[in-house]
Amino acid sequence: MSKVYVFDHPLIQHKLTYIRDEKTGTKEFRELVEEVAMLMAYEVTRDLPLEEVSVKTPVATATSKVIAGKKLGIVPILRAGLGMVDGILKLIPAAKVGHIGLYRDPETLKPVEYYCKLPSDVEERDLIVTDPMLATGGSAAAAISFLKERGARSIKLMCLIASPEGIETVQKEHEDVDIYVAAIDERLNDHGYIVPGLGDAGDRLFGTK
Ligand code: URA
Repeated sequence: MSKVYVFDHPLIQHKLTYIRDEKTGTKEFRELVEEVAMLMAYEVTRDLPLEEVSVKTPVATATSKVIAGKKLGIVPILRAGLGMVDGILKLIPAAKVGHIGLYRDPETLKPVEYYCKLPSDVEERDLIVTDPMLATGGSAAAAISFLKERGARSIKLMCLIASPEGIETVQKEHEDVDIYVAAIDERLNDHGYIVPGLGDAGDRLFGTK
C-alpha cells in the first residue's frame, strides 16, 4: 500500500486557507498555489540520495554533499496541474517538465489521453505528477497508468487537496505511488467537487468560468 503524506507545516496550512477563500482573486490564487507547491516540493524531495564531494571554500577544502545524480521530472495534469509547476521548478530548476492531458469519453466515461509529451528518458526519472485537486481520482490514476505505459518507473503524486475517495482510487490502482497533499477534505459532492475544497482550481488559476 502506498503512503499518504499530509503536510501540516504552518506556512502551507496558512496559505491553503487563502487559496480556499472565495474572495481570493486570480493573481493571488496563482501566486499562493505556486508558493505552496514550492513548500511541498521541499518535503517531497526529502528522500533524494546525497553524495559527498569536495569543495574549496575561501578558507579550506570542505567535504560537503550534493544530490546524487537523480534525474527529476514534473508532469502536470492539464490544465490545473500547470499551476504547481513553477513553484517546484524554483527548488529544482534542472527538472524536465512533461505534460499530460485527459478528457472523459462521454459514452464510455473512461479517461482518454488527448496530449502527452514527456522527457525522452522518462524511465530514468523520478516523476512528480501534479494536480491540485484529487477528486474522484480517475484522472490521476489514468494519467499515472499512461505514464507507466511509457516506461515511467518512479512516480509521486502531489496535490493540494484530496478527497478520501480520490486517495482510495489512486492507492487501489497504484500501490507504488505515494501521495502528497496539504489537506484531505470531507467528501465529493454530486458534481464531483471536493467539499469544502476551493472550487474549480483550473478556473481560479486561469481566471476562466
Ligand atoms: N476539480 C476541481 O478543480 N475542483 C474540485 O473540487 C474537484 C475537481
